[in-house]
Parts: sequence; C-alpha cells; structure tokens
Amino acid sequence: MQKLMMLVCVCVSVAICATAAISAEDLVAAVKERRDLMKKTVAPAAKLGGQMIKGVKPYDAAEAAKAMNEISAVPDKYVTLFPKGTEHGGVADSQIPDKDDQSEAKPEIWENFDDFKKIAMKLKDASAKAAGAAEQGKGTFTAAFNDMTKVCKECHETYREKLEQ
Ligand code: HEC
Repeated sequence: MQKLMMLVCVCVSVAICATAAISAEDLVAAVKERRDLMKKTVAPAAKLGGQMIKGVKPYDAAEAAKAMNEISAVPDKYVTLFPKGTEHGGVADSQIPDKDDQSEAKPEIWENFDDFKKIAMKLKDASAKAAGAAEQGKGTFTAAFNDMTKVCKECHETYREKLEQ
C-alpha cells in the first residue's frame, strides 16, 4: 500500500513538473501561432466576406462559402494555444522584443476559460452557418455573415487588449 502511495506521489509530481516545463520558447510560439491564425486566416476571410456583401467585390457563393469554412476550421485549434504565461505583459511578452508582436490576450481569458471557449465555438458554428447560407444567395449570406461578425466583437470586447490600429 505504501509503495502504491509513493508511486502515485511520484506520478503526480512528474505531471506537475511536466506542466511547469513549458519553455519560454513554447510560450512565444503559441502567441505567434494564434496571432497568425487570426491575422492570416480569420481576418482575410472575414474581409473578403465583407467586401462581397458591400459590393466592393462581386458576390460569389463558392468563394464566400470557402472563406467562411476557413474561419470555421480555426476555433478548435485556436483554443489550444493559450498556455498560462501568454497573457498581455506575461512571460511570453518579456521574450518578444517587437511590441507589435506581443500578446493582446487579456488575463480574463484564463479566469473564464470556459466562457472564452464557448465564444470560440460560437464562431465555429456561426461561420459554418454562413458557409451554408452562401449558396442561398447574397441576402441570406449577408444576414448570416453579420451574425458571425457580432461574435468577433463579442470576444474581442472582453478578451482582447487592442494595442494598435
Ligand atoms: C473566442 C474569442 C475570439 C473570437 C470569436 C475572435 N477573436 Fe480575434 N482575437 C482574439 C484574441 C484573444 C486576440 C488577441 C490574441 C493575441 O494577441 O494573442 C485576437 C486578435 C485578433 C486580430 C489581431 C491579430 C494580430 O496579430 O494582429 C485580428 C485581426 C482578429 N482577432 C480578427 C478577428 C475576426 C475578424 C474575428 C471574427 C470573424 C475574430 N477575430 C474572432 C479572440 C477572438
């Protein structure tokens, strides 16, 4: 019995150490990867959708659906890229010299991670819905697209420290 307890203790401390052993480089990489997902995938796809509904670009159902599906593929991965220490002003930021590349994640994310995840899944659903709406025409797409961009705003208002723009 005592042996078993010891084994349990060893396992627990190994697990704790393993969690604490995320290196500063890993934290920096997580910030970069999640920012790239927003900047290089989500934002351009949302921009294209916006241009189509405003008539800046001709409405193309297949292109619109493709863009919305690109957004919908992001949230599952996105929520795995928030290790502790990657909040604005945290350990990761102390390793990132360029201010523009630092984290804009508010500490509230870690205080309410379930809520943060819930909003991320809302984006996944809303963008999938917009993708489905695309082939039903511009009007239907516009409504679904606008519902989706409300989710961007909802999350940013609470969880993003906007440093530029
Ligand atoms: C679940 C929350 C959440 C949702 C939903 C969300 N974002 Fe973000 N977004 C963030 C957070 C948090 C940051 C800051 C991340 C960081 O600095 O690490 C961010 C950053 C960004 C950035 C700045 C990226 C950079 O590095 O400059 C852009 C652009 C952006 N989001 C666009 C969007 C758009 C467009 C949508 C909707 C289609 C959206 N976001 C939906 C949480 C969210």
